[in-house]
Amino acid sequence: MSNASPARPKKFTVPRFIAAKQKQQKITMLTAYDYLSAKLLDEAGLDCLLVGDTLGMVVQGKSTTLPVTVDQMIYHGEMVVRAVQRAMVIVDMPFMSFHVSPAQALENAGRILKETGADAVKLEGGVNQAKTIEAIAAADIPVMAHLGLKPQSVRALGGMGKIQRDEDQLIADALAAERAGAFGILLEMITAPIAKHITDTVTVPTIGIGSGADCDGQVLVTPDMLGMNAEFHPRFLKKYADLASDITTAVQSYASEVREGAFPDESHSHT
Ligand code: KIV
Repeated sequence: MSNASPARPKKFTVPRFIAAKQKQQKITMLTAYDYLSAKLLDEAGLDCLLVGDTLGMVVQGKSTTLPVTVDQMIYHGEMVVRAVQRAMVIVDMPFMSFHVSPAQALENAGRILKETGADAVKLEGGVNQAKTIEAIAAADIPVMAHLGLKPQSVRALGGMGKIQRDEDQLIADALAAERAGAFGILLEMITAPIAKHITDTVTVPTIGIGSGADCDGQVLVTPDMLGMNAEFHPRFLKKYADLASDITTAVQSYASEVREGAFPDESHSHT
């Protein structure tokens, strides 16, 4: 019998992420916030896990991503990194962690990388954050830009959920992010033709959410695609499971068996 442990899967690195576009291999990404879920997502073979600041909403139950802090991103990022063997882990830079100056952004991006062990950070912005992207990339910290609908701009936008259609601005943002050194660009809620135009224009991979099929990869928020929020069904979201009803049914069965004295039975007791 061999004592050799199973070979560790080959890590999906930033260079592999960039090469995937050249090889026309679609990139798969979902969000992750905790150890057990990240382990399942990694073992299922996803290329990338995003520790998104959506955790403010889907983990903390807040109405926007604005209150999320760098410490909270590090707390969740570290758990996800510990669970993962293959996937590339990207951690979001939360609101006001990069807006003050490129120096502030670099310090926070460095903290996130050092304290979580993640592969990369992501921040919202294009032309307006080019200097910041440049400062982070110059320190060899891989940085992804997030364009289109930017949830951290919710107050300035007066709400969320609008499809982005300003093609000239979006192309300018994508080119500015690429020129500044972003290794990838996330496109949120952009019309499919504009997302295709951006994808055909830049050399780095684009990852879409609500932005059509022509992006180089796709991302969804995991609790949404697993159907954990029964009231949330925007057009772009496909639910691949119905965990809200599965969990409710399981918990109701457990509660009624406990009340009836049917659980624990002999097979679940130590005699
Ligand atoms: O924070 C996040 O989860 C995101 C999603 C839009 C993918 O950026």
